[in-house]
Amino acid sequence: MNKTGFIFDLDGVIVDTAKYHFMAWKKLANQLGIAFSETDNERFKGVSRKRCLEILLEMGNIKATQEEFDCWMIEKNEDYLNYIGTMNENEILPGVTVILVFLKEHNFPIALGSASKNAQTILEKVKLLSYFDLIVDGNNVSKAKPDPEVFLMAAKGLDVAPENCVVFEDAIAGIEAANNAGMMSVGIGDANILSSAHRNFKNFTEIDLEVIKEIASI
Ligand code: BG6
Ligand code: MG
Repeated sequence: MNKTGFIFDLDGVIVDTAKYHFMAWKKLANQLGIAFSETDNERFKGVSRKRCLEILLEMGNIKATQEEFDCWMIEKNEDYLNYIGTMNENEILPGVTVILVFLKEHNFPIALGSASKNAQTILEKVKLLSYFDLIVDGNNVSKAKPDPEVFLMAAKGLDVAPENCVVFEDAIAGIEAANNAGMMSVGIGDANILSSAHRNFKNFTEIDLEVIKEIASI
């Protein structure tokens, strides 16, 4: 039987960087006089930096010049990089490492499928880079989730058919992208928000190795 390929989103799945993205967007929103809540932030999860700023400006009904737009993109990322500056292994979400170790020991192909352009930096900071056979991130893709491009590129790179891939995602757009790619989608977080996922878990501590074996058919 063909091996199952495992594709992990990064922000909100491996590390809780979703909170740092929120803090950086909130800072910019305050500066621009736009109300921005945690609920609004759900729409930003899994979405590229550029698209996030477009949504924020739409929310505030602000028409920006190209120069302002570029400047705010840089500002948001500088704030974000400041927040993640001191990240280390302690910020890996509970249960993640156990699963990565198991998959690695059993030689399963593992990829990262993230919209972030900061993905590699973060994996280096939390010392997980060596677990991944392949990184597909915001620097490689041209179409944002829910387009399946990021996951299809990961499957191709791993040399695994899309129908044999499993995607772990915390974002609505990411679950849709996995479904659009014809893969098994596993929602990590609130099952009410991620209702279109094939399977749902609150976090990785809920996924014991028996579940992984069942998903991977071993
Ligand atoms: C995704 C996050 O992983 O990456 C989004 O869920 C974020 O919230 C996107 O906007 C882009 O990240 P970055 O690091 O390139 O600004
Ligand atoms: Mg995410």
